Parts: sequence; structure tokens; C-alpha cells
Amino acid sequence: MVESLASQAAVAIDNARLIRSLEDMFEAFVRVMASAIDERSPATRGHIERVTALTMALAEAVNACDEPPFAHVRFSDDELNELRIAALVHDVGKVTTPLHIIEKRTKLEGVRDGIDVIRERFATIKEAKRNEFLRRRLELLQRGAAPGDGAALDEEEAAALAELGQQRYFVVACNQPAEFMPDDHVQRLKEIASRTYVADGVEKPYLTEDELALLCIQRGNISGEELRIMRDHVSVTMRLLDQIPFPNKLKGVPRYAGGHHEKLNGKGYPLGLTADDLPLQTRMLAIADVYEALTADDRSYKRPRTHDEAVRILRFMVQDGELDGDLVELFVRSGAWKAGNNPQL
Ligand SMILES: [Fe+2]
Ligand SMILES: [Fe+2]
Repeated sequence: MVESLASQAAVAIDNARLIRSLEDMFEAFVRVMASAIDERSPATRGHIERVTALTMALAEAVNACDEPPFAHVRFSDDELNELRIAALVHDVGKVTTPLHIIEKRTKLEGVRDGIDVIRERFATIKEAKRNEFLRRRLELLQRGAAPGDGAALDEEEAAALAELGQQRYFVVACNQPAEFMPDDHVQRLKEIASRTYVADGVEKPYLTEDELALLCIQRGNISGEELRIMRDHVSVTMRLLDQIPFPNKLKGVPRYAGGHHEKLNGKGYPLGLTADDLPLQTRMLAIADVYEALTADDRSYKRPRTHDEAVRILRFMVQDGELDGDLVELFVRSGAWKAGNNPQL
């Protein structure tokens, strides 16, 4: 009897150890995946770590909150762990996002920044203009004019070169992403693009159609197609996570992670889910993700926001029906937002 009990106990201990080591391996694997994405680029470094720290701090704040609507919400240790894993893998789909899009700083930057080509082109145009004026001067002289008779031509040339210089300056300035580029700038770009010059006997526009389309991006520096590719990382995250047979304790991971860009008003992506489909966990992760992206100081494409600015934006998003207002206020009030400064997972 004792012997059989002992052997059963031994089997139970073995099983417990085995489960423990599998859990450790899974944990390590998740961390490796998370750090692989963070390490891909300085533009995303630390994002996952900070988002996870912020999400967990907010979840702890919910657990500690005795006021409605969170007075009766208590996440168990298993649920907290499930949420932590979801936060660690939420952007795993970014492994497939092209690096030149993740790291894009200007509007024309592709595999290389197209502004260099435009700068060279404007130098060519300048030379072409100078040559044209030289030719006209020559004609004047050939017709027997005195050298002083070319004064009008000098003025015309100076004006043409000054105008070209201003156009070049304007185009270069428009390559920098702006929060919003006004319509009259778009008009001016179109006007510049429609000008032509002649090189090797071929008439060419100042700006190609592709260049014009990119320079006319009015918000930030990402084109419609690039935005689609960028946003695709959530679908990829979901596709990747769907292939993992999560045990019961972690079955919420794909749902929480896959919903981090959804909005309560249904205007998020990729599925356009609405409030009813978005559990607290997803809402917390979404707030942490936005706050981190706003305040991070290592994003090449935008300046970091201060905490106060970021909170103002979060509250605007609540007004627009995008984020959960109770959670945002708790995030601010509880000091959960500080967890991103020195993440300890
Ligand atoms: Fe994301
Ligand atoms: Fe993210």
C-alpha cells in the first residue's frame, strides 16, 4: 500500500515538474519572440516590454480598485498571467512588416529616401535653365546687340533661378512628415510637379506621379498602401497565434492580443469589433499600446509626447468612443502610466 502510494506520489511529482518545465519553456519562447521584434529596429525597441509593464500595472490597479465599475472585478493569478502573455505577443505579427516601413522617417523614404533623387533633379533643372539663358544671350550677341543690352535677360534669369530655389526648398520641406499639411501646400506641390524641363531632348516633369503622391501625404509620412501593410501586423499576429494550441488557462491570449487596435466604436482594425466584443483585457492592452506609442522617445517618425499631452490625447480618444473612459481615468489616477518608465516584468 505504502509502496503504491509512494510510486503514485513520485509520478505526480514528475508530472508537476514536467508541466513546470514546459511552462518555463513556453515562457522563454514567448520572451524570445517578443525580444526578436523589439530588436529588429530602434524604431520599436522596448515597445513590447513597456506595453506589457503598462498593461499589467493597469490590471493591478483594477484589482486594487474598490470603486465602480471595477469594485467587483478581480483578475486571478492565471488571468493576469494570460494577459501578460497576450501583451508580450500582441505585436508578434510585426516580424513580417518590412523594416523600411517600420523605420520610415520621411514621406519619400522607401528602401532609400527619394529626396536625394529630387535634389539631384533640381540641380539638373538649374543647369538646364542656365544653359537656356546662355543660349539666349548668345543669340542676342549674334544679332549684334551690345553686351549691356542683356540686362533684362539677367533679371529674368535671376528671377527664374530664385523661383526654382524656392520650389526646391518647398519640396524638401514637404518631405518632412507633418501632423497636418494644409490643402494649399498640396496645391503648390501639384503646381510644381506639373512644371517640366528637358533632359537629353526628353521633356520630363519636375516630380513624378509617385513622388507627388507621397509628398502629398497630409498626415504623418505613411502612404495608404504602407498603412495597409503596417496594419496587417495585427492580422498576422492573429494568424500566427491561431496556430498555437493554447491550454485553457491561456485561451484568451489570441483574442486579447488580436484586439489591441480595435476601438469601442467599431472603427478599429482588423475586424472592426465593437464594445460588446472587447473584454477589459483587450481594452487595457489598447490603452497601454497607445500611451506607449505616444510617449516613446525612440520613434524616428515623430517627437515624443509628454505625459500630459498623451493623457489629453487618450481623453480625446475616449470622447471619440475609441477607448474605455473608466480604464483611462484609472490608468491616469492610479499612476499605472509610470510603469512604462522602468519596466520590470
Ligand atoms: Fe500593434
Ligand atoms: Fe503595439
